[in-house]
Amino acid sequence: MNEPILVAVAWPYANAQIHVGNLTGAYLPADIFARYQRMKGRDVLMVSGSDAHGTPITVRADAEKTTALEVYQRFHQGFLDLFQGVGLNYDLFTSTHTSNHFDVSQKIFLALKENGFLYTAREKQWFAPSQGRFLPDRYVEGTCYICGYNNARSDQCDKCGNLLDPSLLIDPRSKVDGSTPELRETEHYYLDLGKLQPDVVKFLQDRESYWRPNVLRQSLGQIQADNLRGRAITRDLDWGIPVPIDGWNGKCLYVWFEAVIGYLSAAIEWSRINGQPDAWKKWWHNPESKTYYFIGKDNIPFHAVIWPAQLTGCGSAFDRLMGETEPKPFVLPFDVPANEFMNLEGQKISGSRNWAVYANDFLTRYDPDPLRYYLTVNMPESKDTDWDWEDFYKRNNDELVATWGNLVNRVLSFTYKHWEGKVPEPGDLTEMDQNLLNAVQGGFETVGKEMEAVRLRAALGEAMRLATEVNRYLDQTAPWTAIKTDRQAAARAIYVAIACIDMIKILLAPFLPFTSEKLHTFLGYEQPLFGKQNVASISDELGSHSALQYQAANASAKWEASYVKPGTQLNRPEPLFRKLDAAIIEEERSKLGVKPD
Ligand code: MF3
Ligand code: ZN
Repeated sequence: MNEPILVAVAWPYANAQIHVGNLTGAYLPADIFARYQRMKGRDVLMVSGSDAHGTPITVRADAEKTTALEVYQRFHQGFLDLFQGVGLNYDLFTSTHTSNHFDVSQKIFLALKENGFLYTAREKQWFAPSQGRFLPDRYVEGTCYICGYNNARSDQCDKCGNLLDPSLLIDPRSKVDGSTPELRETEHYYLDLGKLQPDVVKFLQDRESYWRPNVLRQSLGQIQADNLRGRAITRDLDWGIPVPIDGWNGKCLYVWFEAVIGYLSAAIEWSRINGQPDAWKKWWHNPESKTYYFIGKDNIPFHAVIWPAQLTGCGSAFDRLMGETEPKPFVLPFDVPANEFMNLEGQKISGSRNWAVYANDFLTRYDPDPLRYYLTVNMPESKDTDWDWEDFYKRNNDELVATWGNLVNRVLSFTYKHWEGKVPEPGDLTEMDQNLLNAVQGGFETVGKEMEAVRLRAALGEAMRLATEVNRYLDQTAPWTAIKTDRQAAARAIYVAIACIDMIKILLAPFLPFTSEKLHTFLGYEQPLFGKQNVASISDELGSHSALQYQAANASAKWEASYVKPGTQLNRPEPLFRKLDAAIIEEERSKLGVKPD
């Protein structure tokens, strides 16, 4: 019953604001899934943090003439605010710029080295004669040698999604000053993916029956195309985690090598903060534990191929380096339910062209549950989807307000008017009453089944279908007119409707936590559904970092069919959602930047 579930959520680069595409791609589905699993009584640990290192951060710092540290801290703070606003309940949202993460990452490096999966080689990399320095990753842009896209970064192409061999980039140019870099020799550590390939292939084959087809296809495709060659895991960069080898000053671990290690280091950090330093093993060393990685499709190669290779390659050497007396190997990813992308009004979201809806900005005008709702019904689970303001407006008004919000409001207000806000005594239930109760009760199975398979759109669709059933039932039983002639029949219908609303509240709670919490109090409950998120300041040798911590202590939400008893005193209801004015469609569209071509 208490099976351990690790919800591993992509670490946002601390160099840009989070937009709706990022939310629906990884962070929101993770939270919905984690809330559901907690409600099922499972032992959930949901971790992530700011991805603080690498060229995404330093390129921005250079452009702004500030430091990488300042950039990282500024965006990190923005993430903490946003995640509280959207209700993403991370057990720990930390950062890769902590001494714990440095230590864990260096030990993973050393474990791989000890097991013979690292080698050094001298290879040619881009060097800027104008600056006298190497230009790793995002410092160089040019034309992708696979698809021909002319704005590819040297390490990955945004158009075709492939990881690139930087030295093969066509027409390279420096991001710093546009100058043409030249290839010069430099020495780096490489992860020997060739040696680990058989393990990775077996890992993927073992999961073939239940992984999303696009994730499998891309991972196996990468192996076929690449025949997993060694990959450089160090860089000529001074912002990041030092290579833990004498004589390697001025070189750092590659950001993608260390960021994924955050899933492990954050679990370790969480365990220490909570005074149970060994707790992380429950998720990382226990064959019963299931680990789910919530990421966007551009992250698939790093999570479904390279990260399993890193974990396998460590064997139990990491534990030995940690001084464990019974060293054990790591649990490999159970699922990587990567999402496709969300576009905006038919065009690819682009921060540089301001063709984006930023989540923090959205929350200054709208509430978080409509955002969560729209991003879930439109979640790019199997293909790219589109954020369309007219569609947002319609779904808010026609679905959230009309189907669910009005149902709740009508029923509860009516109860106030005719039964002094007390759940009426139903008397004997009819077959029709019982059928509806059974159907809604069945939602715990049917919605739950979709949740278990991480089909969140389908899960939400099913919960909303049940709300529609309740509306249909009320149309048929019409308590609003029955009250005049048959008070008992009206009481029965209202009782049944309240019971259904109470259950649907739970089915919707992972998706709509804020309004479900409100409704929960309208229904007279005293214990909150969910726990609280705190911002804590944590100090270590690197300084201090702020982190989000979810405190589940007084959460009462359970994934089971139970409902209020007759006679329960309700609290006065208020509308759960706001009806939007059609004018917002054009207002919002006019705020968008230049339409990309
Ligand atoms: N920072 C990366 C991105 O935003 C995601 C990293 S996920 C990690 O695309 F786990 F690898 F960190
Ligand atoms: Zn490409």
